[in-house]
Amino acid sequence: MSATANGSGNISGTGTGNGVGSVAYGDPGESVAARLEKLRDARVVVTGGAGLVGSRLVALLRRADAEVTVLDRLDAYPESAHTSLFGVDDLGVKLVVGDVCDREAVRTVLADADYVVHAAAYADVAACTRRPDIAFRANVQGTQVVLEEAAASVVRRLVLVSSAAVYGDGDPSVQGPQVFREDQRLLPVSVYANSKLWAEHQTRLLLGGPDTPEYAVLRYFSVYGDPQIPKPGSHSWMVAWLSMQARLGRPMRLNGGGVQVRDLVHVEDVAAATALALIEERMAGETVNVGTGVPTSVREVGELIAPHFPESRFVTTPMPEGDPLGGCAATEHSRELLRWQPRIDVRAGVERYVRWLSATPHAVPGWLAAGPTA
Ligand SMILES: NC(=O)c1ccc[n+]([C@@H]2O[C@H](COP(=O)([O-])OP(=O)(O)OC[C@H]3O[C@@H](n4cnc5c(N)ncnc54)[C@H](O)[C@@H]3O)[C@@H](O)[C@H]2O)c1
Repeated sequence: MSATANGSGNISGTGTGNGVGSVAYGDPGESVAARLEKLRDARVVVTGGAGLVGSRLVALLRRADAEVTVLDRLDAYPESAHTSLFGVDDLGVKLVVGDVCDREAVRTVLADADYVVHAAAYADVAACTRRPDIAFRANVQGTQVVLEEAAASVVRRLVLVSSAAVYGDGDPSVQGPQVFREDQRLLPVSVYANSKLWAEHQTRLLLGGPDTPEYAVLRYFSVYGDPQIPKPGSHSWMVAWLSMQARLGRPMRLNGGGVQVRDLVHVEDVAAATALALIEERMAGETVNVGTGVPTSVREVGELIAPHFPESRFVTTPMPEGDPLGGCAATEHSRELLRWQPRIDVRAGVERYVRWLSATPHAVPGWLAAGPTA
C-alpha cells in the first residue's frame, strides 16, 4: 500500500508500493549542511546523546563543527551498544556520564551552552509500562531538572524530544489509520506517552518567556535505521526486531498480524530535523511532527525484509498492551516551519538496515541470539 496524507484525519491509499509513493523526499531549497553552518562553534548539549538518535544527531552536529557535550547514563542497552555500535567514544564530544536527575551535573553542562537538545528518556513503551517508577524518574523528574536549569541559564533554545505516542489512537470517530495533526486532541494510551505529554506541557510552562530560553518541541514518529538494535522485552522498533529474527532464522513475529501502521522515519532524517530545530527561526515556541506522512503496516515492513532472507516466514502473536494502532504524521508544519523533509524512504532505509546487519553480525544482541523469543 502507498498512501497520501490528506490532512483531514484520514489516509487515502493509492497504488501498490510500500508507502513510498507520494512523498517528495529531499531538501526543500538550501541543503541541511549549508543551513547548519550557523552552528559552527556553537556549544550544544545533548542529553541522551549516547543513544540511537542522540548519537546520530551528535555526529551531524560535529560535522557542522559545533562543540558538543553529551550527558547520558550509558545504560539503555545491556551490552554497551553506546560504545560498541553507536560509537559515542569516537564522535569527538565531551561525554559526561551522568543522570538528568542530577541537578549539579545538569547545571555544570548547561553553564556555558548555547543550545540544548533534551533527548534523554526511558525510551521504550513496554519498559515504561513495566517500570513506571523509572519512567517517571527519567522522563518527568529528569525533564523538570533540565527545564529548570535551562530556564536559569544563558541557553538560547532548547529542543524537547517528544513522541507521536502522545496521539495515542487518535480520534475515536475515525476508522483505521489516521493522520496525526499537531493541534488535535491528545489521548495517550501508555505510561511512556503520558510522560512525554507531561514533558511537552512543562516545557511550554517553563520556557519561551521574555527571560527564558526559546523552545521547540518535536514529536518523532517511528525512528528506524542502522545502528538501531532491539531492547529486551520491547515491542517497538520493528525494522530491527523483524530483521534480526529473520537473520537468526526465526519466524518474524507480527503482533496482531501486523496490521498496525507506523510512520517510519529514518534516524538520519530525524537527526537533521532535530539539528535544524535548534536554529530555524520559525520553530520558536512550536510543536512539530517529525515523520514522513506515509503509513506502513508492520506486515509491509516484514515483506520488505523477507526477500533478503529466503527462509523467512511470519507468525502472528497477540497485540501487546499500550501498542497503538498507529497512523502517520501531518507534515505541513515540518515542511513550512522547520523547512525539513525526509530524504530516505522506507524501502531504501530497510534495505540499508539489512545490508548493515549483514555486515555487522555482532550487532545482534547476545540475549536475543540466545533465546527463541526473548
Ligand atoms: N526511537 C524512536 O522510535 C522514538 C520515537 C519517538 C520518540 N523518541 C524519543 O527520542 C529520544 C531518543 O530515543 P532513542 O530511540 O535514541 O532511545 P535510546 O534509548 O537509544 O536513547 C536514550 C538515551 O537516553 C539515555 N538516558 C535514559 N535515561 C537517562 C537519564 N535518566 N539520564 C541521562 N541519560 C538517560 C540512555 O542511556 C540513552 O542513551 C527519546 O527521548 C525517545 O523517547 C524515540
